[in-house]
Amino acid sequence: MKKLKDYLIFPLDVPSEKEARRYIEVLSDHVGIFKVGLELFIKAGPEIVKYITEAKGSKVFLDLKLHDIPETVFRSMKIISDLNVTYATVHCGESADMLQAAVEGSNGKVGVLGVTILTSVTADDLTSSGFKEEFTADMTELVLKRAAIAKKSGCTGIVCSGLEVKNIKESLGRDFITITPGIRPEWEIAVKDDQKRVATPASAIKDGSDHLVIGRPIRDAKDPKEAACKIIEEISKAL
Ligand code: C5P
Repeated sequence: MKKLKDYLIFPLDVPSEKEARRYIEVLSDHVGIFKVGLELFIKAGPEIVKYITEAKGSKVFLDLKLHDIPETVFRSMKIISDLNVTYATVHCGESADMLQAAVEGSNGKVGVLGVTILTSVTADDLTSSGFKEEFTADMTELVLKRAAIAKKSGCTGIVCSGLEVKNIKESLGRDFITITPGIRPEWEIAVKDDQKRVATPASAIKDGSDHLVIGRPIRDAKDPKEAACKIIEEISKAL
């Protein structure tokens, strides 16, 4: 059965294995999945993944956000599939072929998640990068379109904003996993950073999010364990 802590993913956005181990030690009773992203993976490589899964018995979300030609994505995901991770990511915005290559490479051993549109991106960002306004006026539509391609390509789910979860679940079904970053607890909602399409833990959970990625509000808190517990409490109330 899914435990409360399984709703919470903590990104180990730290520059060293030593710091990562410190957060794992403090948070492993309150966090279901640790996310290893580019910063830590570049520094500590597959060894840190092994440490989390084998020595600590926790789950890993390997968030390398692959984005390359299908052959390279296939070969990279094939290697990822031997790391015993629960989820791994690939960008959705390029082609169905790239997504299918990721799924094929995963060989059924890792849940492939499509990154739809980063939560740090706004409609204006997309327009200035060359998208016609008719495609960016409604970000949810574009996220939905990408999510549908990810599902058709065999992905386990997607990464999207908490603002989009409801629509995705309604059109693609409850079993299609949604992971939502850009989550800000009530006490942090006024803090301005690079995240733009933000939601609170309660609203993302009520809308059906399967896992919340919450980093800085925990990592930078005076007491990270206390912050994680407060978030778990909010999740519990929303459920
Ligand atoms: O909560 P916070 O903003 O600190 O979370 C940052 C983390 O969320 C980073 O690890 C980043 O890679 C991840 N992220 C993501 N997908 C997005 C936006 C952020 O995986 N769309």
